[in-house]
Amino acid sequence: MNQDQLKQLVGEAARDEVLKLPAGQVLGVGTGSTANCFIDALAPFKSHFSGTVSSSNATTERLLKHGFTVLDPNEVTQLPAYVDGADEIDPFGNMIKGGGGALTREKIIASMAQQFICICDASKQVPVLGAFALPVEIIPLAKGVVSRELEKLGGRVSLRLSKQTRSDLEQTPSQAFVTDNGGWILDVAGLKISDPAALESHINQIAGVITVGLFAKEKADVLLVSNASGVSRLTF
Ligand code: A5P
Repeated sequence: MNQDQLKQLVGEAARDEVLKLPAGQVLGVGTGSTANCFIDALAPFKSHFSGTVSSSNATTERLLKHGFTVLDPNEVTQLPAYVDGADEIDPFGNMIKGGGGALTREKIIASMAQQFICICDASKQVPVLGAFALPVEIIPLAKGVVSRELEKLGGRVSLRLSKQTRSDLEQTPSQAFVTDNGGWILDVAGLKISDPAALESHINQIAGVITVGLFAKEKADVLLVSNASGVSRLTF
């Protein structure tokens, strides 16, 4: 089974998981290629939910295309579950997220939800977080000062650039990737994150940081993880 098939498999397992929730509630929906598989699998059953809250413009677009109702998070007071992928997840349910740049809204929606259902293939499971460069969303004018603070932690910091074609690059120099919130992303490589909760708190205190892509306070409650022999369900 290739990685796309594993994502599809776990997307279908997440559909079955959320259809066990009582009907008529609102569902939080994440961002990324695995979350997309989940959205596509859930589409024929969308009437089970009164609406969704979305973690990015890209997810909103996909949900609307399938005919889901997408609500403003400010209108929602009860969210039984949030379903999203991860870039890495450790044996305790702590995660690195933000590879797709949607970390801030993802963390907001996760904080509203009673349970975080993480969906991924087994390649995302790691003993210690940090092989995947940690995304940190920042206010653009704070790039210099935040980079220096992150370097003090021992990381190698790089500004995420927008994806450009070769011909674009010939015309104009590389441009910063801009998030849905108008922020920039610093990717911090080379960290070995033995205490995710402490590092999350520390980075949150740096002036100019919008959100760090460490999800320790908002860690997974349930993990659905696919490999060649099927989908396993873990709880934390
Ligand atoms: C988006 O910003 C991320 O947090 C994604 O949830 C994460 O990058 C996983 O994406 P894939 O499912 O595409 O690997």
